Amino acid sequence: MTENAINADQIEFWNSTAGEQWVKGQENMDKTLAGFGQLAMTALAPVSGEAVIDVGCGCGATSLALMQVMAHGKVLGVDISAPMLARAEERSLELSLDAVTFQQADAAVYDFETNSFDGVFSRFGVMFFDNPVAAFTNIRTGLKPGGRLSFVCWRPVSDNQWTRVPMMAAFEHIERPNPPAPGAPGPFAFSDQAHTRTMLEDAGFCDVSIEPKNLPMAFSIAPDKPLGLQFAEMGPVGRLLVNAPDDKKTAIIDSMTKALEPFVQGDQAILDGAVWLVTAKNAKDQP
Ligand SMILES: C[S@@+](CC[C@H](N)C(=O)[O-])C[C@H]1O[C@@H](n2cnc3c(N)ncnc32)[C@H](O)[C@@H]1O
Repeated sequence: MTENAINADQIEFWNSTAGEQWVKGQENMDKTLAGFGQLAMTALAPVSGEAVIDVGCGCGATSLALMQVMAHGKVLGVDISAPMLARAEERSLELSLDAVTFQQADAAVYDFETNSFDGVFSRFGVMFFDNPVAAFTNIRTGLKPGGRLSFVCWRPVSDNQWTRVPMMAAFEHIERPNPPAPGAPGPFAFSDQAHTRTMLEDAGFCDVSIEPKNLPMAFSIAPDKPLGLQFAEMGPVGRLLVNAPDDKKTAIIDSMTKALEPFVQGDQAILDGAVWLVTAKNAKDQP
């Protein structure tokens, strides 16, 4: 992969620290995110015999769940992360779900079998493309005419207590960075509803629906590690800490811990998560 190759930064990111951390925390992460995946799965409403793509399938939980819901049919989980897909393969073997295939590939450029899938699903796996219109146009080539798209993505940080609380605590010590441009790759790429709608329409989707949904997120916490550090290790807050001057890191972690403590219930911290549930169809008359 050359330095300027498409999605090169994300490919590196998800094949190094992020992918490894995700594998380590996979069981807890799947519990925390299960409700959001369920929202997108219910909206997709896959039925027996259908073929579905799971974009950015990560450690495979949602690909396997889709297959279990359909009983017959096929699921193609596509992801760029080798460590996360290795975990997905292990889990697939444990469950003997032969009709699930995992493919290490960039969904933005992967050569999907044309017009052959009934649905495209994603739980937080579609916000990392350098060029989202090109990526969704490519993904759409795999869909049958009229095929369904359903995914969940994060609403803005300000609506998401689980990121807003630790971030505001960090900003007591460091300057707030400029917000990224709408669509710039990252967890909040599609937080701007209007931008997301236009992006999907430009990629050839129609009947776009974007609905706000909120769910409590229960994070398992370890008693032997500062709470602020645990949040910094698992999400967008971590980037703030990595980029902070060394002499401020301890104070940032302490402030985050203090801000998060009111949300602790037993061995969990429970904070609100806010997503867009996005559905659309492959416009029949698009090439
Ligand atoms: C936030 S994680 C979500 C993983 C999984 N969907 C879940 O809910 O557990 C984002 C996933 O998107 C994958 N990803 C990022 N860019 C991608 C791309 N261009 N093509 C395929 N997968 C990608 C990452 O490797 C990662 O597994």
